[in-house]
Amino acid sequence: MAAHKDSDSFDSSFYKSADAFFPSYSGIGLTFDDITLATLYSEILPRETQLDTDLGAGLQLHIPIISSDMDTVTESRMAIAMALNGGLGLIHHNMPERQQLSEVSRVKHHVHGLIQEPIKVTPDQLIGDVLELIEQKRFAFSTFPVVDDKGKLAGLLPSHVVKPRYAKRKVAEALQPRSQVHTINQKELGKDPIARADKFFTEHLGIHKLLVVDDKDTLRGLITMSDVERITQERRAQFKPARDANFHLLCGAAVSATRNAFGELDRERILTHVSGLVERGVDVVAVSTAHGHTKGVGDTVKMLRDAFPKLPIIAGNVTSAEGVEFLARAGATAVKVGQGPGSICTTRIVAGVGIPQMTALYVARQAAAKKKVAILADGGITKSGDIVKALTLSKAVICGGILAGCTEAPGEVLEIGGKLYKQYRGMGSLAAMKAGSAARYGHEKNPTQKVAPEGVEALKEVAGSVDRVLAQLIGGIQSGMGYLGAANLAQLREKARYIRVSPAGQREAAPHDVVELKTGNQ
Ligand code: XMP
Repeated sequence: MAAHKDSDSFDSSFYKSADAFFPSYSGIGLTFDDITLATLYSEILPRETQLDTDLGAGLQLHIPIISSDMDTVTESRMAIAMALNGGLGLIHHNMPERQQLSEVSRVKHHVHGLIQEPIKVTPDQLIGDVLELIEQKRFAFSTFPVVDDKGKLAGLLPSHVVKPRYAKRKVAEALQPRSQVHTINQKELGKDPIARADKFFTEHLGIHKLLVVDDKDTLRGLITMSDVERITQERRAQFKPARDANFHLLCGAAVSATRNAFGELDRERILTHVSGLVERGVDVVAVSTAHGHTKGVGDTVKMLRDAFPKLPIIAGNVTSAEGVEFLARAGATAVKVGQGPGSICTTRIVAGVGIPQMTALYVARQAAAKKKVAILADGGITKSGDIVKALTLSKAVICGGILAGCTEAPGEVLEIGGKLYKQYRGMGSLAAMKAGSAARYGHEKNPTQKVAPEGVEALKEVAGSVDRVLAQLIGGIQSGMGYLGAANLAQLREKARYIRVSPAGQREAAPHDVVELKTGNQ
C-alpha cells in the first residue's frame, strides 16, 4: 500500500488537479491544445459511461452538447436533430420574432419520423421542373406528393417517372391518382405514430411511403419506411432524446438585449417575445451577447427572471469569476463562457480582448461552484478531445463550427472545385450584423454606420448528418472518460489531472511522420 501511495504522490507532482494546476499558471492563458489529461486507473469501459448533465432549473440533457445560436448553425432542423440525440439546440435570433416563434413551435411539435412539411409538387409543373428542383436542392429522393393550389392531396409522383425522357410531360399526366395513394388521417396516428406506421408498412407489401392528411384531405405530412426502420433501431440506442415532461423534444431560443430608439432596454418588446416563446413551450432562453458582464445583459436577465421565475435562463458571454457571479445574481441558471475562442471569431484580433478557453473555464468555474450555476464552454471546439477537456471544468459545451457543415444546419450546399461546402459565419461578421445580430455586439442595426466586425464569413466542408457527427464526438468523449476511469461527467470533473504540453508535445499529439491516406473519422 505504501508503494502505491508513493507512486500516487509522485504522479501527482506531475499530473495535477485543476486547483493545483491552473493557479500555477495564473499569469498565462491556456487553451485546449496547451494541456493534456493524464490517464488514471480504470474499471470503466467507454461504452458504459453516462453522459447525462444537469444544467439546473430542471434542464437535463442526455449528452452535454448544445448547438450554438448562430444563423448558420441552429434553426428548427438542427434543434430537432440535437434533441433527438439527447442534446439541445439554441435557435438563433437573427430572424423576425414571429419566425423564431414558429421555429420553436416546429421543434416542440415535431413527431419523430413524420416529415411535417414534405417537398410537394403541383399538377401543372413539368417533370423537367421537378428534375431541376432535385438538382438544385440536391435532394436524395425523387418521389413527391402532388397537391393542388389549396394544399389538397392530388396524388403521388413516383420516382420511376421522374426521368429526363419525360421532361416535357406534366406532373398531372404522370402522377398516381389520389384514389390509389395510401394515406392515413393524422388523428389515427395515435400516441405512437412510428409503431402505427410500422404496422402499416408490414401490412402493405411494397409500399414505402405513407401520406398523412387531415379531415379536409389537406396534406399534413409524410412517413417513409426507411425513417421508420432507422427510428425503430435507434430506440435501442444508449442515448435517449432530450424531452420535456410531455414527451416533446427540448428546444432553446436566443433572445437579444434589444434597445429602443432612445438606446434604452426595450423591456416591453423583450417580455412580449419571451412570453410568446414560453407559450410555445420553449425550455430555455439564452441571452446571448459578446459581453455579458454589462448592465444591459444583467438588467435583461433580471427582468426575465422576475417575469418567469421558473424558466431556465442561459446568459453570457463572460470569462471572469466576477462576470459569472454578476449573471448568477441577476438570475441566470447557466452561464456561457468564451470570448474570442470561436473558429469564426476575430474579437481577440479586433478588440485585443478575450481569454484562452481552458483558463477562462477554470476561472469561471470557481464562481459557478460558489453561486451554484452551471457553466457552458462556448466556442473553440474543433475535436472530441477538446470537449473532454472542456467538460472537466464545465457542464456542457456549445458548438458552432463543428456542426455548421451538417445537413441539418441552415443554408445551401455549394460546390467549389469538386468539393461540397456550407456557409458558416460569425454573428459579429458584417453580413450577420446586417441581417440583425448587431445588438449582440453592442452595435445598432445600421449597415451604413461604420462598425468593426468581430467575426468572419467562412465555409465548412459538408460533414453529413448531425447523427453522424455527434456519434463521432460522443465516441471520443466516452473514450476519454474510459481513460480516466470516469463513469459519469461528475467523476470526470473530479478525477481530471492536467499537464502542460510543450510545442513538440503538441506536434507529437497529431499524426506525424506518415503520409495520411484517411483522416481519423472517415
Ligand atoms: P466555434 O468555435 O464552435 O464557436 O465555431 C462558436 C461560438 O463562437 C461565438 N461567436 C462569435 N465570436 N465573433 C466572435 O468573437 C463572432 O462573430 C462570433 N459568432 C459566434 C459564439 O459564442 C459561438 O457559440
